[in-house]
Amino acid sequence: MVSARQKESVNKKKVVAVLGAGKMGEALARGILRTDLASQVLATDILKSRLEVMKKIGVKTMETNYEAAKASDIVILSVKPKDMSKVLSEISSIVGNRRLVISIAAGVPLQFIEQHLKKARVVRVMPNIAATVQEAITALAPGVNASSEDLEAAKNLFSSVGRCIVVDEKLMDAITALSGSGPGYVFAIIEALADGGVKTGLPYDIALQLTSQTVLGAAKMVLETGKHPAELRSMVATPAGTTIEGLAIIEESGFRGTLIRAVEAATRRGREISESLFQ
Ligand SMILES: NC(=O)c1ccc[n+]([C@@H]2O[C@H](COP(=O)([O-])OP(=O)(O)OC[C@H]3O[C@@H](n4cnc5c(N)ncnc54)[C@H](OP(=O)(O)O)[C@@H]3O)[C@@H](O)[C@H]2O)c1
Repeated sequence: MVSARQKESVNKKKVVAVLGAGKMGEALARGILRTDLASQVLATDILKSRLEVMKKIGVKTMETNYEAAKASDIVILSVKPKDMSKVLSEISSIVGNRRLVISIAAGVPLQFIEQHLKKARVVRVMPNIAATVQEAITALAPGVNASSEDLEAAKNLFSSVGRCIVVDEKLMDAITALSGSGPGYVFAIIEALADGGVKTGLPYDIALQLTSQTVLGAAKMVLETGKHPAELRSMVATPAGTTIEGLAIIEESGFRGTLIRAVEAATRRGREISESLFQ
């Protein structure tokens, strides 16, 4: 049974420390500040310029990772994977099991973090850069000491920047390659479609606006109708019409196979990087 004291501690607003105030750290801090989940957001970074940006959005900046971790209930690790060992060694003496640790670093296994931070309650997550516009998809995998309340707390924080799904850690490499890197693929697709518009006579800004809203609208239809993309595609492609003419070229060029291989290659590359850094 959950005691009154435990309940109070779950519901209490938390102090959240963001270690590494880069692109993702900033997007997360902005998202969390829009909610009433945190009483305060703290941040550290090596770069003074990044700390200045964080101060301007209402984050309290700290001199060291140790200090920030000590002053917080939840520690978000948002440095690059190559900097993870250093940060973990700086905070290992203070984390214990009183603080929840959330890592967003690609390819850093839960086990690696748990070995450095003995007894720590860790949740590994993989968001994407769309956190900047609160449209990220974040996959969350709990570590061995993380409770269901910890997972809930992590979900609440990442819900401030988009949708969340809970997964088994073994899916993380594939998720990193699909939705972590995914915005990169979609930007390339948007650019190419807009170029198609330009080739057929549209001004670039109009072509880009048309393409971007089309991608957004199509994605929303998949998410909201729950229909298979092939079914939705058949709603657009009428017999002997324009869409099927375009789709025939897409099929001929091996577009789908290319995207499948891209995700496979990114998954392989993620595993290579992870093995070279953490094994
Ligand atoms: N960007 C994405 O699309 C994306 C998506 C999902 C997950 N992620 C993960 O998110 C993490 C951050 O990515 P990002 O794109 O935000 O990278 P980033 O913009 O480079 O941010 C990382 C920040 O941490 C700073 N830093 C380095 N060592 C530090 C230390 N010891 N203490 C405090 N701060 C330190 C870096 O400074 P320096 O620049 O001086 O090193 C940099 O400002 C990565 O682990 C990545 O795998 C990124």
